[in-house]
Amino acid sequence: MIAQETITTTAPETTDAVLTLRRASPDDRGALIAMYLDFEPKGACLGLPPRKEPQLWLDNLSAFPNFVVVSGSRIVAHAALCDDGESAEVAVFVHQDFRNRCLGKRLLVELIDEARRKRLKRIWGMTELDNVPMLRLARSLGFSPGADPREFFLTL
Ligand SMILES: CC(C)(COP(=O)(O)OP(=O)(O)OC[C@H]1O[C@@H](n2cnc3c(N)ncnc32)[C@H](O)[C@@H]1OP(=O)(O)O)[C@@H](O)C(=O)NCCC(=O)NCCS
Repeated sequence: MIAQETITTTAPETTDAVLTLRRASPDDRGALIAMYLDFEPKGACLGLPPRKEPQLWLDNLSAFPNFVVVSGSRIVAHAALCDDGESAEVAVFVHQDFRNRCLGKRLLVELIDEARRKRLKRIWGMTELDNVPMLRLARSLGFSPGADPREFFLTL
């Protein structure tokens, strides 16, 4: 199990160069809500994150393994592995100020590792066809498209 991983980003022009990836805890709820209230574009992935009041959605996700990337007291990226004991759906969200720094990739790798720790047989995700960043990210980690091209699968 990861305790936490410190990430030094490749963006030296920012003051947020040191970021930490770790498992989420109940204490993160306020910072997660703050990230999603400020997230753009809302509804980017099949209506997620919700356009308003992300609390209920986050409460539903809290039953599953959740990971966050933290910069100081701020959460800047979040991922969850929604498993049913055999397979799991992945969800990865990176705040717009922190994209293209490999945080999505680090989080998706962590979800794959978590699925292996839980001995799941496969993981999958679904997004809009025009969500090129997510589809390319998934492809770069070995996911294959499903019969529905909005879906991507990885057998473990
Ligand atoms: C999709 C998302 C999670 C990617 O996160 P990110 O941290 O910006 O992505 P990374 O920097 O880790 O990029 C990893 C790979 O993704 C792909 N990628 C990321 N951004 C891309 C872009 N704008 N255009 C094309 N490919 C892109 C590339 O293949 C990249 O690999 P490379 O560095 O070898 O080129 C982020 O854009 C996001 O939060 N989008 C809105 C929410 C969303 O749609 N989530 C998906 C829910 S399933």
